[in-house]
Amino acid sequence: MKLLFATHNRHKVEEVLQILAHTDVQLVTLADTGFTEDPPETSDTFEGNALQKARWVYERTGQLCVADDSGLEVDALGGRPGVHSKRYSPEALPGPNNQLLLSELAGIEDRVARFRCVIAVVGAGVERTAEGRCEGRIAHALQGDGGFGYDPLFLADETPGRSLAELSMDDKNAISHRGRAFRKLPDLLEGLL
Ligand code: IMP
Repeated sequence: MKLLFATHNRHKVEEVLQILAHTDVQLVTLADTGFTEDPPETSDTFEGNALQKARWVYERTGQLCVADDSGLEVDALGGRPGVHSKRYSPEALPGPNNQLLLSELAGIEDRVARFRCVIAVVGAGVERTAEGRCEGRIAHALQGDGGFGYDPLFLADETPGRSLAELSMDDKNAISHRGRAFRKLPDLLEGLL
């Protein structure tokens, strides 16, 4: 049996396929199943949203599903944008999101931040979750053009001076919140596939 990944975000799909490449887990994406609707995410926690997305797709397909919810928490902003990372700016696009972040942090010394990713597996009578985090700080200007979202502004503690957008996908996956969460997936699937 294959596991259905409940996302339409092609960047996430690319990263997760690479993270799981050397495991037994075989992923099918929503696009593969012809599903076009976006699962809802109305919770105020990463865990709540990951479960909501996975439950929603499981209820409509009957297939064992994994979903993730992720975002950026900035300490000086009291943890914002957090679960609202995708729609932080009115435009809800990476460029405006990054510019808004830079302007909110203008003149602020404390740039400590982290990415968080919670994954949820939902199937018949089963709900399991796991989390991964990536600690770092917010740069003063955009750096690099790889990755997606806030990558050009995020300097992970493990790669000081270099943003996630300046790393290869393998190097990002080795330290990222998503890499750390999805590497727990084989254990989470114990007894299910
Ligand atoms: P969601 O998990 O689909 O709700 O999206 C979370 C949002 O957080 C994304 O749209 C990005 O803005 C941001 N985000 C999550 N993971 C990453 C990442 O690995 N790099 C950069 N931005 C990310």
